[in-house]
Amino acid sequence: MTRRHAPDPDDLAPPKRRRRRLPGDPPAEASVARMLRVDQAGEYGARRIYEGQLAVLGRSKAGPTIRHMYEQEREHLATFDGLLPERRVRPTLLSPFWHMAGFALGAATALMGERAAMACTVAVEETIDRHYAGQAEVLETRPEEAGLRDTIERFRAEELEHRDIGLAHEAEQAPAYPLLSAAIKAGSRAAIWLSERF
Ligand SMILES: [Fe+2]
Ligand SMILES: [Fe+2]
Repeated sequence: MTRRHAPDPDDLAPPKRRRRRLPGDPPAEASVARMLRVDQAGEYGARRIYEGQLAVLGRSKAGPTIRHMYEQEREHLATFDGLLPERRVRPTLLSPFWHMAGFALGAATALMGERAAMACTVAVEETIDRHYAGQAEVLETRPEEAGLRDTIERFRAEELEHRDIGLAHEAEQAPAYPLLSAAIKAGSRAAIWLSERF
């Protein structure tokens, strides 16, 4: 067993020196604000991913399919772009980063080929589906937010359509699919975590 040694001077510091998180959940308004902030960021990232894909594959046979998904992302983004000022929610501070990272992810996977681009779509859209499903569940308990829940459910259905398009375009036959998919999902979850907070 370890023996106690002399206490570190820092341990004797008055409690006010310690930074503590406030207890309890964020108030309801704050949590809806977080939802809107992360959703706007996510749809912005999605638009940039498809822009990156189109820059590479826009003239390929997959071009019109990618453009269809891109147009839907533009509509999703426009909706949240409108909701943020309406609800007085500030956008994420990370937009310049998502601007670059989204485009880079879309273009890089597209450069690996159409299947890799579709694998990117499947990974991102599956992550967004789970994210929206979680939000819809929370909003279930808030009758005054029924409109927002309907919007999220409608977008979620379109994200699932995008996932299915990716699967139909042989996403799972992309080179190193499990690794690629896991990396993109991890990145997407990190992006969600960051955009909720910053
Ligand atoms: Fe979307
Ligand atoms: Fe999507």
